[in-house]
Amino acid sequence: MKSTINIKDRLHNLVINRETDYANDIYRNPVKEYIDSERNLLEKKILFKNNPVCIGIASDIPNKGDWFTLDLIDTPLLIVRKNSTDIAAYINICTHRGAKVAKEDSGKKAFSFKCPYHSWVYSLEGKLISRPRENAFDKIDKNECSLKQINIYNHNGFLWLNMNKKSEIKYKKNVKDLNLLLKDYNLNNYHFYKKKIININMNWKLAADTFLELYHINSLHDETLSPIIMSDIALFDSFGSNIRIIGPRKSVLKSKNKLQTNKEFKTHTIQVITLFPNTVLVTHHEHVEVWHILPGEKENESKVSFSLYSKEKAITKSAKQHWDNNFNLAIDVVQAEDFPLGEDVQKGFYADPKRKLIFGKNEPGLQHFHKSINQALKEG
Ligand code: FES
Ligand SMILES: [Fe+2]
Repeated sequence: MKSTINIKDRLHNLVINRETDYANDIYRNPVKEYIDSERNLLEKKILFKNNPVCIGIASDIPNKGDWFTLDLIDTPLLIVRKNSTDIAAYINICTHRGAKVAKEDSGKKAFSFKCPYHSWVYSLEGKLISRPRENAFDKIDKNECSLKQINIYNHNGFLWLNMNKKSEIKYKKNVKDLNLLLKDYNLNNYHFYKKKIININMNWKLAADTFLELYHINSLHDETLSPIIMSDIALFDSFGSNIRIIGPRKSVLKSKNKLQTNKEFKTHTIQVITLFPNTVLVTHHEHVEVWHILPGEKENESKVSFSLYSKEKAITKSAKQHWDNNFNLAIDVVQAEDFPLGEDVQKGFYADPKRKLIFGKNEPGLQHFHKSINQALKEG
């Protein structure tokens, strides 16, 4: 890991010299890794079960009783805020006959959850509170019928799910890196603004690759991002398997020495932080954008959720308009430019599956991401 002490000077030098951080060498990544169904199954098992996975943000559910559901690979989950400080994760399966206790995507201020099949009712703590015709079940104590709980940790507002012991061990190792990486971003203090789910026809890693280099800004995003962000100039740092890329905004060119204070640095840069394996945080001065990428059923499918969180709550009409503009810009860029191109790339993989992709020295983020995946798969 490079020094993080002097990122202002490091970036300033890159801007002056129109340079970027480099990897030591070129890296060639086999196309097979994006199209192989066995590989996809292995990644789901190891990266999304034996590894901690960030599955949401605490401010998605700010009030007691707020909740959301998601399917993490093949496990239906129910995430619930129990009180102002505690969030719990349960397997969203009723202990009676296995229906999903919560059917919808999300809800607010629930007091309890009633299973739709036979109306067993669970508390926010996951305990069975009541069941119709109680006497028919008298030999099975209600305490034996709690929802199964999964460990979830709130780190700076990022919700990390740990499906098993292996994952727990890795999470504990990861915390040190997360502390460094996210020290300026406590998402417990941000406000959820809006969310969109996008289903795409490409491997989940290809969706993540989109966010791992700024080499394509001038070319693919010539009208949208190119006027705002400098192309192919980026600081790269790794924190364990996690990655931080910092690029200068074009506003930095308007006057010299604009990167000296923390405020200047934040105002005139964009930070793209990949929380291994599947979450991308894109930071802006007054808001952040969070992308969660999950593998779909097949190797060429994935599900992406995009949410915007603002520092100030959007109350006024003009504030809402402002966040709508930001939300729409991000969606327009990624959904209309990055993902359609990625879907074409995915289709092209099948034409020559033995080929290898080239990650240049100026794409160290891509290199680190794929090396980290291979390392994690090796560890099991
Ligand atoms: S399956 Fe939930 S109450 Fe029967
Ligand atoms: Fe892009």
